[in-house]
Amino acid sequence: MQQQQLIDEVKTLMDLVARNTTSLTDSVMELDVREYTDAALFNREKLELFRNYPQFVGPSCLLPAAGDYFAFDDTGVPILIVRQSDGSLRAFVNICSHRGAPLNECEHGNARKGRMFSCPYHGWSYDLEGKLIGVPFGNEGFTGIDRSALGLRPLDVQEKHGMIFVMPNPEKTFNIDEVLGGIGERLSGFGFEDHYYLGAKKVYTDFSWKLNMDTFHEYYHFEFLHPQSIATMAYSNIANYRQYGRNHSMSSPALAINELKSVPEAQWRPREYSSYVNYIFPNTVIFVVADHFQTWRVYPIAPDRSVVYHSMFLPHAPESPEEREQYENYFQMINDVAVTEDYGLVDKVHRGLQAGLARKVLIGRNEPGVQNMHRQLHDVLQPMVLG
Ligand code: FES
Ligand SMILES: [Fe+2]
Repeated sequence: MQQQQLIDEVKTLMDLVARNTTSLTDSVMELDVREYTDAALFNREKLELFRNYPQFVGPSCLLPAAGDYFAFDDTGVPILIVRQSDGSLRAFVNICSHRGAPLNECEHGNARKGRMFSCPYHGWSYDLEGKLIGVPFGNEGFTGIDRSALGLRPLDVQEKHGMIFVMPNPEKTFNIDEVLGGIGERLSGFGFEDHYYLGAKKVYTDFSWKLNMDTFHEYYHFEFLHPQSIATMAYSNIANYRQYGRNHSMSSPALAINELKSVPEAQWRPREYSSYVNYIFPNTVIFVVADHFQTWRVYPIAPDRSVVYHSMFLPHAPESPEEREQYENYFQMINDVAVTEDYGLVDKVHRGLQAGLARKVLIGRNEPGVQNMHRQLHDVLQPMVLG
């Protein structure tokens, strides 16, 4: 968002605060409780949402230099994404053509000498374009193979508005404009191209990936679940909702927003008074706050187990060990709030869902983000057959 859009958004939020209300949908949504527990539905979600649907990977600044790579296997297909020397991206199925080991040494790093991957199992090597360029003992051990056909299998990867998406299914391609649904313009200006990647925290949770996502899309719970943390900084149950294709973006006012009434508009620093929860269907939230942003990517493991990657992106690299430590402490503090407050409670919600009692889960008119996620899930997964 550009300065004038941020100012307009802050004015909208000041109006919501003055009227003590929030964006509302037309009606309350009811979900069948089995949507969170049904094994057949879970398998369809894994297939249609995590194998056949483009996945948000990260902002462009995750891979700033030639040879930078990012690897993950949480969709079920091991994926390797690599920045090329011409600045473009390529993605591959991260399975060595010899006997199938993944090629990455870490989740995130730079290729060997910036230009090749060497398999940790028997040393087959590939260049950044995925071509097989080296087979140790190959002249004797692997006579008669066609090396030109044994490169890494390519995946469709695309980058726009500072966001990287990949299609896990090698048989499929995608249209990035359709996937973004216009949210790229909304998010431009938040620095997705030039921030500094501090790192990621991986948290396993013993509940549905959808329950995990639900916690991010509403501000209704702040004063009850986060009285000593988030609710000391932001209003509860006040947010402005906007829809972009299957995605959405919600802004929320800081408690101090009315200070702006005594400041001339030309001097406003709107990002200090608003934060943004941006949902990228199906499993990602990009949280923009103050001078930086974070991503939360959630993946299903089983109907009652999921994993979340919480990544931190700063406006610049820390300039000293002390500054790095300050940022690391802040990062840990935010993660701790989610783990102890949100996940601690949601863990108990999941126990209730598993009780096997027929009932409805209710999503209020004041929870448009939660409603949107489930509406989009229904749309992609129609018809839903619940066991
Ligand atoms: S599995 Fe990669 S070299 Fe053997
Ligand atoms: Fe929360």
